[in-house]
Amino acid sequence: MTESITITDNRTGETLEIPIENGGVSAAAWQKLLPGLWFYDPGFVSTAACESAITYLDGEAGILRYRGYGIEELAEHSTYLEVAYLLLNGELPNPAQFEAWRHEITHHTFIHENVRKRFLDGFHYDAHPMGMLVSAVAALSTFYLDAKQIFDVESRHKQIIRLIAKMPTLAAAAHRFSVGMPFVYPDNSLEFTSNFLSMMWKTAEPRFDANPALARALDILFILHADHEQNCSTTAMRTVGSSHADPYSACAAACAALYGPRHGGANEAVIRMLTEIGSIENVEPFVASVKAGTGGRLQGFGHRVYKSYDPRAKIIKRTADEVFEITGKNPLLDIALKLEEIALQDEYFTSRKLYPNVDFYSGLIYQAMGFPLEMFPVLFAIPRTAGWLAHWQEMLDQDSKIARPRQLYIGAEQRPYVPMGERG
Ligand code: ACO
Repeated sequence: MTESITITDNRTGETLEIPIENGGVSAAAWQKLLPGLWFYDPGFVSTAACESAITYLDGEAGILRYRGYGIEELAEHSTYLEVAYLLLNGELPNPAQFEAWRHEITHHTFIHENVRKRFLDGFHYDAHPMGMLVSAVAALSTFYLDAKQIFDVESRHKQIIRLIAKMPTLAAAAHRFSVGMPFVYPDNSLEFTSNFLSMMWKTAEPRFDANPALARALDILFILHADHEQNCSTTAMRTVGSSHADPYSACAAACAALYGPRHGGANEAVIRMLTEIGSIENVEPFVASVKAGTGGRLQGFGHRVYKSYDPRAKIIKRTADEVFEITGKNPLLDIALKLEEIALQDEYFTSRKLYPNVDFYSGLIYQAMGFPLEMFPVLFAIPRTAGWLAHWQEMLDQDSKIARPRQLYIGAEQRPYVPMGERG
């Protein structure tokens, strides 16, 4: 028997039965009974805006899967590039497919000289690298005019390769500019993450070989950040993409959404918060101030979907230990552990189901690896590009409607214009 709900319009007594499909009910069916009566759902808390086959998330049980594969298994056995292929194509690649994918990505890492020399060099000396990234990604659309052919399979594939390949180059270029260091060209003999680390840190040596354990740790972080279904930035990607804008413009919008401290900027906010707390003795008073509403929010805690421990945070905590063995312990770790311990025993946090999210520990790793705070959201944007593009592609394949929500108007009734001289 098909499960369904029945709704009754009490004004008319009319009823309508709507089937429950894939855990949802169709708003279009609802509209048949209630035309012109809108769902009021700020923040889309109860609204599914699309069907998607990319990422499965069970926030109560703390489950995250890409295309059916558990995040724990992928973090243990896979690589970011393989995961990007999986997200975009739906299946893990066979060796020949992976080699072709790796080759294509590796050979599209260079950026046009004008992007770096004229565009990025034009920023103010203290520009935030995330602001630079948002703008540079948008600027790419002016370099690849074929990107407008979003329904041409070949063109679409090319833009996907370009975006995934060039994000680390743009990210590192933004960093090098902000510290006054010369730009480092990509090294095609290196793997994705090692190449990024080379572009970040290379100085005078002919070749920069990153510590393999640190490159692997970063790759794991990239896997964990690659997708997270309909989050704020992915929604921005889908919304802008639904107008059939080119993927660079849509991706720039997604980057901009990621910039905010409620989303990708949270890892930066966590480090600032831990630094401000300063010592273990200050943790308890700080938690008290959060509860009293005077200390702001506990950064890196809470999630719209996870109402239990974020499975990514568990993996990151383990990765942190491995990184600290090489880099030495981040002195803020003890404060973070104490904060977690106190919060997880406190009724304020447990009753609201507030647990550490992916950003609570990722910043500690980035900082121990030498990344400046401003680079944290940039580090998030690099891998999330694969997820954004997978959703963009899925949306186009579904011939999705343009995103255009309704509103409940609460403003003034119609009134006559008053000439300026007659206003009080
Ligand atoms: N610290 C203290 N209290 C919190 C926190 C927090 N981090 N998060 C939520 N709350 C409280 C709210 O004050 C509210 O309490 P109330 O019911 O007494 O008013 C309740 O928990 C529910 O909070 P909402 O804001 O309604 O939850 P929402 O789902 O809208 O927000 C969000 C989720 C934005 C992630 C929020 O938890 C937050 O601001 N966290 C801190 C920032 C952060 O870590 N962001 C990263 C998210 S992960 C990511 O984007 C990669």
